[in-house]
Amino acid sequence: MSLRWLPSLRGSEVTDRRLYLDRRRFLATTAAGVLLSAVASTRSSRAAPLSGVVPGPFSTDEEQTPFSDVTTYNNFYELGPDKDDPAKNAGRFRVRPWSVAIEGECAKPGVIAYEDLIRPHRLEERVYRLRCVEGWSMVIPWVGMPLAKVLERFEPNSRAKFVEFTTIYAPDQLPGQRLPLLNWPYREALRMDEAMHPLTIFAVGLYGEELLPQNGAPIRLVVPWKYGFKSIKSIVSIRFREDQPVTTWSQAAPSEYGFYANVNPNVDHPRWSQAKERRIGEFFRRETLMFNGYADQVAGLYAGMDLARHY
Ligand code: MTE
Repeated sequence: MSLRWLPSLRGSEVTDRRLYLDRRRFLATTAAGVLLSAVASTRSSRAAPLSGVVPGPFSTDEEQTPFSDVTTYNNFYELGPDKDDPAKNAGRFRVRPWSVAIEGECAKPGVIAYEDLIRPHRLEERVYRLRCVEGWSMVIPWVGMPLAKVLERFEPNSRAKFVEFTTIYAPDQLPGQRLPLLNWPYREALRMDEAMHPLTIFAVGLYGEELLPQNGAPIRLVVPWKYGFKSIKSIVSIRFREDQPVTTWSQAAPSEYGFYANVNPNVDHPRWSQAKERRIGEFFRRETLMFNGYADQVAGLYAGMDLARHY
């Protein structure tokens, strides 16, 4: 993603001074201070393990991107615009308690606690490719559940043609939201058939552990055949809609980021080619695959559509 019109912003400028002072005060008053500050400086700390995870379908056996890269090379503009900002600036982000509002065209709207949202579902590991629109990619062993199974419980009605997702808005916890980087809160959406597709998941973990804040804790979308910006993090609302929602990146730069955002090596971004990608950890660039390698599963969703127009 790129924000040409903004002056470049370093992580240190968005570091919250009060957080820094609070932490200093805390460390000064605890005997474990030295130990804690050592832990805090290893930025890819581990999260709580998840139990009962079973292997899920559609996993690739390609080499997995190391945990340390997956948790320190991130896009999460709410925590700053640079790749290492999210891991550094997540200290104030509270991901519990958490609830999600279910709204719009469905029979059972309401607000549901995170634990109740995920409890009825079996946790599966799905090793998916993630291809960012910027030209890099990773292979990540997500833990999650099919989005369709979650959405069905709220009984979407026949007017529900799209599903819109919204990220938490909490500028006190998310320093990037105090800056005009994007039109906050971050919004994304899928067509109903895309949302209900068996590849689409709600992820709650990776590498067998709960998501760290920088990866979109406690619950995020993963849509592996689309550019990474569709996989919205830290979701607080799900709205079933009849009309096509306006999404954050397509609003910020409509000619660069479309609603569909299907990975497509034949349709270039206006400022760069999408034919190749750099897999994090590899030296040579590799060919980008149509629909990120998931064409057998999803090409049918777009039969007859001009993908150069519906980018
Ligand atoms: N979700 C929110 N709320 N804010 C963001 O800035 N960035 C997106 C997506 N989800 C983003 C977001 C982009 S551009 C990518 S590539 C992926 O998150 C990156 O996910 P990862 O950091 O877990 O690899």
